[in-house]
Order: sequence, then C-alpha cells, then structure tokens
Amino acid sequence: MRLEVIVLAAGEGTRMQSSIPKVLHTVGGRPLLDHVLCVARGLAPEALHVVVGRSGDEIRARFEATDVVWVDQKEQKGTGHAVMQAIDGVQSSAMVLVLFGDVPLIGQETLEACISAAEEGIGVVTVDMPVPDGFGRIQRGRDGEIEAIVEDSDATPAQRTITEVNTGILAAPATTLAPLLKSITARNAQGEYYLTDIVGLATSQAIRVVSVSATSAPEVQGINDRVQLALVERHLQRREAERLMASGVTIADPSRVDLRGTLTAGQDCFIDINVVVEGTVTIGDNVTIGPGCVVSDSNLADGVVIEAHSLVDGAVVGKNCRLGPFVRVRPGTQLAEGARLGNFVETKEANIGAGTKANHLAYLGDSTIGAECNIGAGTITCNYDGVDKNETHIGDGVFVGTNSTLVAPLTIDEGAYVAAGSTITSKVDSEDLAVGRARQRNIQGWVPPTKRK
Ligand code: UD1
Ligand code: CA
Repeated sequence: MRLEVIVLAAGEGTRMQSSIPKVLHTVGGRPLLDHVLCVARGLAPEALHVVVGRSGDEIRARFEATDVVWVDQKEQKGTGHAVMQAIDGVQSSAMVLVLFGDVPLIGQETLEACISAAEEGIGVVTVDMPVPDGFGRIQRGRDGEIEAIVEDSDATPAQRTITEVNTGILAAPATTLAPLLKSITARNAQGEYYLTDIVGLATSQAIRVVSVSATSAPEVQGINDRVQLALVERHLQRREAERLMASGVTIADPSRVDLRGTLTAGQDCFIDINVVVEGTVTIGDNVTIGPGCVVSDSNLADGVVIEAHSLVDGAVVGKNCRLGPFVRVRPGTQLAEGARLGNFVETKEANIGAGTKANHLAYLGDSTIGAECNIGAGTITCNYDGVDKNETHIGDGVFVGTNSTLVAPLTIDEGAYVAAGSTITSKVDSEDLAVGRARQRNIQGWVPPTKRK
C-alpha cells in the first residue's frame, strides 16, 4: 500500500525558552526534525509532509529538502488540526503515518509494526509510563480492546491512574483517517482539536484500534524542555556507543563519548574517555583515539594512534600514523603511512609523506612534504604574505633543522638540509645545506654594564 508520512512540527516549543524553533535544536549533532525525517525516509514513503507553524520559514531554510511537502498550520489549534492541514494533500489510496517532529529516537521497526497494525483499522504506538502525568491515557474495555484516548487534562481521577499512555504516533488508511478528522471538535479542556479523538470515534464505528508497544520509553520520549533534550541526548549517545561496541570497538566509558555524526569503525579500535566525533568519520582496524580528542570528518586508516587532546578535522590519515598529544590537524591534511605529528604541531592543506616526522611545535600549511623527512621543532611554513597563500614544496628525505622559518613560495629539493635557526627564502637544491642565519661571533673580554646604585 502507498505510504505517506505526516510529521507534526508546528508546536511553539515555549518551554525550550529559546529563539530557535524546537525541532531545530539538536541531539547527536543533528536537528530533532532531521532524526524524524531520516527514520521516515527509511520507510520509503511516497510522500513526506511536514506541518510547520510560525517558524516555518526558518525550518524550511535549514533543510532545503526536495522530498518534503511543507504544510503551514497558521494557528496551533491542536494535533488533530495539524493533521487536517496536511490531509488534503494525501492521496486517498494511501496509508498515513503520523509522527511528531520532537520525538527523535523513534525506531523504524516500531513504525513498521504500527503500519501493519493499521491494516486492521488504526495502529497506535503506546508505552507504559510509571508516572504518566501529562500524557494521553489509553482506555481499554473489559475485553482489553482500546476504546479511547483520554488527554490528561480531560481525564477523570480513575483514568489518570492508567499507566499505558499514547506516544502520539499513529497510522491509519487515509480513507479511515480523513472522515474521522472531519468529526472531531475542540470541545475539551484545552479547546484544541485532538488527533487522539479519532480513536474514540473509530471504536464507536466498529473500526478496530490496535496498539503497538514502543521498545522502550526513551524511544518515544518527546522533547518539551532542555532537561528532556539532555535526557534524549544521553539515550542517543548510549545507543550509538552500544552499536559501536557491538561492532567490535572498545569504549573506555560509554557515558563519556559523544557522537555528533556517523562513525564507521573497523575491529579492535579503542576510544578513550571524552572523545567527540563530528560529521562523517571512518576509522580502520586497531585505531586508538586518546582521551579528550575531537575527530571531525576524517578518515583514519588501520593502526592509527591519536594521543590525548588532539583535534583532527578534515584529514586523511594513512596506516600506522601517530598523532599527538596536542596536535591540531586542520582540513586538507593528508598523511601517508607511518607519518608522525607530535605535540603542538598544526597542519592545514598539508600533504605529508610516509614516515615523515614533525614531532614538536611546528606549523605546516599549504605544503607538500615528501617521505622520510625530519621537520625540526619550531619549523614554520610562512604561507601568508598578507595577501596570498603561498606553497612550500619539500622533497623526500629532507632534514629541516629546528627553529627554521620557511618563507613560501619555496622549494626544498630531496635530500637537502636546512641548518637550525635558518630563515629560508629561496630554493634549496638537492643534497645542499642551506644556512640562513647570521654567523655567530664571540666578543672577547666583554664587560657587562654595571648596575646603578
Ligand atoms: C500529545 C498527545 C498525547 C500524547 C502526547 C505524547 C494529542 C491531543 N495528545 O500531547 O495523547 O500522550 O502527545 O507526547 O495529540 N503540534 C502541531 N500543531 C499543533 C499542536 C501540536 O504541529 O497545533 C505538534 C507539536 O509540534 C508536537 C506534536 O504535535 O510535535 C505534539 O504536540 P504537543 O502539544 O507536545 O502534544 P501533547 O499535548 O504533549
Ligand atoms: Ca499540548
């Protein structure tokens, strides 16, 4: 059956106390709505409708999604009213799945089960909440069948003791849903058009309502304030950490790693505490990431070791490279097999050859450096003349002595040497030694100035 999804995202999110629309707040580094859209896309729907309110323009601009039909709900008159705004755009032959934009951890399997349940009438996803305050309660008859959903503010004290609650997620064929929506009214405690009222109306017309249990409470946790935002963030991080551990990654402490993107890892990797992964990161087998590192949009080959407190962003790191502690690898850095960058080394747009070492205190920018070079402590590529960025090219096997200033554009051919403390401004030929510093002179019998009384 044709599937169409309606995501409700028009709520104001007042309790966030924020100028940012609620569904643009992030968990796992991605907007709440992005999580919901991704899981919806996993169901391969024929159409994806998103109902937005006052912040619609801002939300639309953030997504630029070509597969979304944006629907405006000018006034927030309730979840039923929100679905009414979208229903005219839904084909009558479709199965409709309603999702909330602020319930980001919902899983595809639960949704598939809900859609199957709806083949008998209406499928609703429910969960048991020991403290059900604020939720719609699932009222069942003596036969155990669902009779209605009663909103918290409309519930009797007896109904309030029910702990099975509505998650808000439901599915129904458009031919069932559309006429039921026409019958709901706003005659209730909140003066809203409740989507949940279709359940009571359906059962009175002998349409079956079938529940599907959420796999866990976190899966259907909605976000109304920043406390719930943090709670969901922790659940997501736990889930991602468990996924990685299941795939063969050792995580020193699953509660102290943050994935704000996707990490694809080989076997026997080790991730120490307080590591943050952003964007798209791929790591091979036997990779070690030390404590306090931030790795973004990078590719680390087998056996790479990143020591404590290093930042690696936009890099391609070859096999068995060793970085850190305290390196800053910036976008456009490529390291061939076995290269080493030590403490307080910064690279940017740098292509560094196999086995080359820059072990301490260097800046290597807009550079290509060959294999088996030694870049001494304090080497700086002076790539910027105030107007343009200029390149430094260093051949294989070059030895750059400590505290050298390499003024680009510059070429140092293979096997050349740069004496410590040099300022190099012109080409160094292969095998030559370049000395770019004042010659030392010693002043004999030097009389130091005497101190004034
Ligand atoms: C809703 C359910 C309740 C359920 C709870 C689960 C109804 C009437 N109640 O209550 O049974 O237990 O969710 O969290 O459905 N929205 C719009 N337009 C509106 C109103 C809401 O798009 O006019 C969107 C919100 O952005 C949000 C979702 O619908 O994503 C739910 O709205 P919210 O006000 O949080 O629903 P609750 O009152 O919590
Ligand atoms: Ca509400």
